[in-house]
Amino acid sequence: MSFCVIVLVLCLSVAVAVTESAIGVNWGTVSFHRLKPSTVVDLLKDNKIRKVKLFDADPDALTALMGSGIEVMVGIPNEMLSPLSSSTAASDLWVRQNVSTYLLKAGADIRYIAVGNEPFLTSYSGQFQSYVVPALQNLQQSLAKSNLAGYVKLVVPCNADAYESSLPSQGAFRPELTQIMTQLVEFLNSNGSPFVVNIYPFLSLYGSSDFPQDYAFFEGTSHSVTDGPNVYNNAFDGNFDTLVAALNKIGYGQMPIVIGEVGWPTDGAISANLNAARTFNQGLINHVLSNKGTPLRPGAPPLDIYLFSLLDEGAKSVLPGNFERHWGIFSFDGQAKYPLNLGLGNRLLKNAKNVEYLPSRWCVANPSLDMSDVTNHVKLACGVADCTTLNYGGSCNGIGVKGNISYAFNSYYQLHMQNEKSCDFDGLGMVTFLNPSVGECRFLVGVTDTNSSGCEPGLGSYKKWLIIGLLILWFFIM
Ligand SMILES: *[C@@H]1O[C@H](CO)[C@@H](O)[C@H](O)[C@H]1NC(C)=O
Ligand SMILES: *[C@@H]1O[C@H](CO)[C@@H](O)[C@H](O)[C@H]1NC(C)=O
Ligand SMILES: *[C@@H]1O[C@H](CO)[C@@H](O)[C@H](O)[C@H]1NC(C)=O
Repeated sequence: MSFCVIVLVLCLSVAVAVTESAIGVNWGTVSFHRLKPSTVVDLLKDNKIRKVKLFDADPDALTALMGSGIEVMVGIPNEMLSPLSSSTAASDLWVRQNVSTYLLKAGADIRYIAVGNEPFLTSYSGQFQSYVVPALQNLQQSLAKSNLAGYVKLVVPCNADAYESSLPSQGAFRPELTQIMTQLVEFLNSNGSPFVVNIYPFLSLYGSSDFPQDYAFFEGTSHSVTDGPNVYNNAFDGNFDTLVAALNKIGYGQMPIVIGEVGWPTDGAISANLNAARTFNQGLINHVLSNKGTPLRPGAPPLDIYLFSLLDEGAKSVLPGNFERHWGIFSFDGQAKYPLNLGLGNRLLKNAKNVEYLPSRWCVANPSLDMSDVTNHVKLACGVADCTTLNYGGSCNGIGVKGNISYAFNSYYQLHMQNEKSCDFDGLGMVTFLNPSVGECRFLVGVTDTNSSGCEPGLGSYKKWLIIGLLILWFFIM
């Protein structure tokens, strides 16, 4: 065990020397088919991704990240803001259980705590907003008590709906948020924390039929926005500078900005497809890494950007739209969806290795049976499993009536880990060993959802680090 610690310490000190990169990813886990956390961490490492943002403080994810050298932003769900705002005992415990444990064990390199997730979102009607600053204050003193206040920064990821304006230079926070935003930004500034914002040109395009398609991307536009002496050629810059102006208006025009979420989905809507996602994400990455900045911040791009998202999350609510389950640059099983250069050293994405799939078999509609009584079965299957790709704009929209039924059956069957009974459907279903996928429409095979616990499941990567550690030790001894 002491050897384990030595190796981890060595790995951490090696990691510190590596230059920091500005591109990170969001790792969400609302999926029916979750990869093992150690597989995901290896995927991050293989793609040289050195920053990851989580939506909670999942012990399995944090354990798998131990010793990886990857910088972590852990999240606090909005529902926890109220208890954390009212009790320092609660914030002390949160920090001890979800931060100190991992940091003190020379483990997961937690650098940021995201306090709430878009807590000022208009659709929450203000239900979380009064808790944010008190929760920050409690957590800050808990960090200070643990001597972590200088190392771990508190941030609050905000949706871009916190500010508004028709022209970037006129940007201002929503009037009802002005006071709270002023307190928040004062707090961030006094602790050296950046402002974290989520920016989604896709949602602007999806939500408004007169939003010019080419303004969402980075390849030039016939709809540029002229704002005094400044010309904006893409929605991202326009949105970013609206925030800069809003910060300026409350006296913090120099505050560093991190993009907590940004990305483009690949399925579930007409404008959500592989080509659009590749074009947007590659354009964004090239733009940020060019260091050009924006008209209001020339030469000063965002500090970091976290792509949304690493993996598809097939169990997310589709309330925002069917695209919601398709944001990954990788599919749920860690396979790259399209060529993307993250600017981190690899020219292309590398797929997840050693993914443990269920056997190669699928559930389909029995071709020799009459399907006229199938409606309720399909409804039931799609009520729990993911069928979003079948709808208009989805990759499986054109596969016909029987294709639809088979797709629904299979989603349900894989969700139930290929349990035989889950392919019955009153005798209408049938297991097949022939892959029913057609063109871009993929009939999935689930992955085995094994939970990690402690050091053990990460053994593969652990051994590798052990060998590297031994080599380094050997080098020093010689
Ligand atoms: C630590 O984080 C996890 C995951 O977000 C949460 O369930 C747990 O309640 C937290 N611990 C404390 C003491 O609040
Ligand atoms: C397949 O299902 C989708 C979603 O319910 C529907 O839009 C489409 O029209 C269906 N296709 C056929 C041929 O029935
Ligand atoms: C994995 O862990 C989660 C929570 O820790 C639990 O809800 C789930 O049932 C577990 N899955 C398996 C396959 O053990």
